[in-house]
Amino acid sequence: AIIRNYTFVLENKGYSRLCEKKNILTINGKFPGPTIYARRGDSVNVNVYNNADHNITIHWHGVKMPRYPWSDGPEYVTQCPIMPGTNFTQQIRLSDEEGTLWWHAHSEWSRATVHGALIILPPKKTPYPFPKPRKEVPIILGEWWKSGIQQVMEEFLANGGDPNVSDAFLINGQPGDLYNCSRRDTFKLKVDFGKTYLVRMVNAVMNNIMFFKIANHSITVVGSDGAYNVLNTSTSDYIAISPGQTMDFLFEANQPPSHYYMAARPYSSGGMSQTTTTTGIIEYRGNYTPPSSPFLPTLPAVNDTSASFTFTKQLISLVNPVDVPLNITDEFFFTLSINTRPCPNNSCNTPSGERLLASVNNITMQLPKISFLQAYYRGINGVYDTDFPDNPPFPYNYTADNIPIELWRPQNGTKATVLEYNSTVEIVFQGTNTVQGIDHPMHLHGQSFYVVGSGLGNFDKDNDPQHYNLVNPPLMQTIAVPVRGWTTVRFRANNPGVWFMHCHFERHVSWGMGMVFIVKNGKGLNASMLHHHQICHVVDHPQILKSI
Ligand code: C2O
Ligand code: CU
Repeated sequence: AIIRNYTFVLENKGYSRLCEKKNILTINGKFPGPTIYARRGDSVNVNVYNNADHNITIHWHGVKMPRYPWSDGPEYVTQCPIMPGTNFTQQIRLSDEEGTLWWHAHSEWSRATVHGALIILPPKKTPYPFPKPRKEVPIILGEWWKSGIQQVMEEFLANGGDPNVSDAFLINGQPGDLYNCSRRDTFKLKVDFGKTYLVRMVNAVMNNIMFFKIANHSITVVGSDGAYNVLNTSTSDYIAISPGQTMDFLFEANQPPSHYYMAARPYSSGGMSQTTTTTGIIEYRGNYTPPSSPFLPTLPAVNDTSASFTFTKQLISLVNPVDVPLNITDEFFFTLSINTRPCPNNSCNTPSGERLLASVNNITMQLPKISFLQAYYRGINGVYDTDFPDNPPFPYNYTADNIPIELWRPQNGTKATVLEYNSTVEIVFQGTNTVQGIDHPMHLHGQSFYVVGSGLGNFDKDNDPQHYNLVNPPLMQTIAVPVRGWTTVRFRANNPGVWFMHCHFERHVSWGMGMVFIVKNGKGLNASMLHHHQICHVVDHPQILKSI
């Protein structure tokens, strides 16, 4: 294992998409941002300079950072923002991750343009557990608003409803030629007949699970979230990928030489959606007459819950058996809800006149003014409470059509759950049907979890656990809890630190759908390490949810 060094400079740069130019936040002027390459177990130092006019932090999504929460990145959870004109070296500690992960800003909505792939190869001379592909191709799914993202966020927080939908989805920063002014720069992949290609896909979209498909070609998943996960059906003709997730898959160029579209569009079970399609082109090399337009794949319908749920449910680990915890010391049942609340002085611009917000176990998370991590390791009281409710507010039919008003009215809180070192944790996430039943891609920092079960409807604690997959469940860090359904995950809390868990839909986390785990035992991880931490200088920050 070696140490690699990268320099990231946050700067504003003009980019034209959809016939209009705007300034966006970039790293080193690039959009999508630079790809970081490393090998299993390496350390990567990224010196982040803020040369822009906006606060920033960077998160290494899916990297466990063993005993090193100092550089994990979420603002006000493990650090304060890197302010304009300052810099901070973030140390990424890779351990057993292998495959594709990514990095993104974890500061307000900046991740819309501040993101890139983090590719972790096996150790030298160690082959992949699948045939060597001809070529590896990172594909980042993104999203584009014609207005500035800061403006989109501010309007969204002020008007109390869903944010304005974006104007396009992107493949490697390009909308593709089904959108105006996008033909010339459409992402193209040239392939040779008979060869196999490895796609390393990241879903960096802000607010939607995405369906992706290549016309006429089937897909073999070989990894996701930096682990070797596969489908129990082995191949599929599409994938469903949540914001935050990564999916590594092979496809063989085995069709008549021609031009074929790859295409992505959202899956949406409720709330906001726009349904446009982003495309890229797979172009076979050789002599043939290309079609006037590439073949277009038929994607699952935008509201096809079963296509999303079934795909996710088919993921299993390639390694068998896995080390899934069998004896659980800490069991949690977390409800995930969208809620409403009367607006302060009727300022909301929503049909009901009430503003939307979100909660876990009816707590709407408020970020503190200094980071949880700083407060924990410095022993500063009064920053957060440790009484995050570990039971749902009351037993109920969470997925019914009419849910009583109590479940619509969460309390604000800045709360953490403290876990003993090495405790074995099970979380049942239950999506509720308050306001809008909708999927929630839940993401945990600092550990991967095994996804042992999921289903539609209410979790049934007598029957559902009997069907858990404890043999080869997939190892993930982000999992879509299905609309009005449940998902159970298990992990061993063997990474001391302070770790954020939240929905990876940007609007939901802004509405407060998150909580924090503190994993105890600071051996080698104590206040003397605080100089590795971006100290909070600002006591008054533009808090997400400030208006709630
Ligand atoms: Cu992809 Cu908390 O992040
Ligand atoms: Cu959500």
